[in-house]
Amino acid sequence: MALVNAKEMLTKAKEGHYAVGQFNINNLEWTKAILLTAQELNSPVILGVSEGAGKYMCGYKTVVGMVNGMLEELNITVPVALHLDHGSYEGAKACIEAGFSSIMFDGSHYPIEENVEKTKELIGICNQKGLSLEAEVGSIGGEEDGVIGAGECADPKECKMIADLGVTMLAAGIGNIHGKYPANWTGLNFDVLAAIQELTGKMPLVLHGGTGIPSDMIKKAIDLGVSKINVNTECQLAFADATRKYIEAGKDQQGKGFDPRKLLAPGFEAIKATVKEKMELFGSVNKA
Ligand code: 13P
Repeated sequence: MALVNAKEMLTKAKEGHYAVGQFNINNLEWTKAILLTAQELNSPVILGVSEGAGKYMCGYKTVVGMVNGMLEELNITVPVALHLDHGSYEGAKACIEAGFSSIMFDGSHYPIEENVEKTKELIGICNQKGLSLEAEVGSIGGEEDGVIGAGECADPKECKMIADLGVTMLAAGIGNIHGKYPANWTGLNFDVLAAIQELTGKMPLVLHGGTGIPSDMIKKAIDLGVSKINVNTECQLAFADATRKYIEAGKDQQGKGFDPRKLLAPGFEAIKATVKEKMELFGSVNKA
């Protein structure tokens, strides 16, 4: 099945009270692991690509070529969206051009008026081309590919203003942070989330920084209207851990254990296991 935008899968998720996972990709192993797991679990999925990861993978056209090739060669039939994560204005335009099916424009660092103006322009382009668009209000804490946010909570009225522009989904800061949560993290702010949900109604809400949020908080966030949850660091940690164990056990020095197809296999399986665990927690299994 060809790439789809994220609108239908997220509308269904919001109505069905579950969330679709966005898993960020970094290379072929990541992409293959996520797509195969989604297919095995009959779950819709969103592949996230940060601008840094896009550069690492030799540019957006390479990413589109790789993902489209895999959809066909692996016979992937579940809905898959290819989504720019935390896109700049220029990055958004480049991904639209390259063949992505979904865009996040992170205008959270602009004054709200400028965020509105740029978001409006991108909504127009995405609507015309049949793409979905995610906007962000209130920066997400932590650091991701050089984009640093302080973890503030979004103003529910600003969320409504951006939602009313006609975006497909809205990321709102509610105390969430990219990367590992510090020991003194006080948790998600459910009062703010409830206030945003109240004002934005059917708009699918997006929770960034999915790594390390306890399961009960994830479930509560879904109950309060979150329909898309982004996970990146957790797959990276799982991959690194499995690869380290393989090397520390000396397996790369046994037989042909140095062959990348063997060396990267434990990490690949670890990503699959992480994605499976998340899809089960988010409730997207058998929702394709
Ligand atoms: P984590 O790396 O904390 O899982 O966050 C991912 C994310 O929000 C991507 O936008």
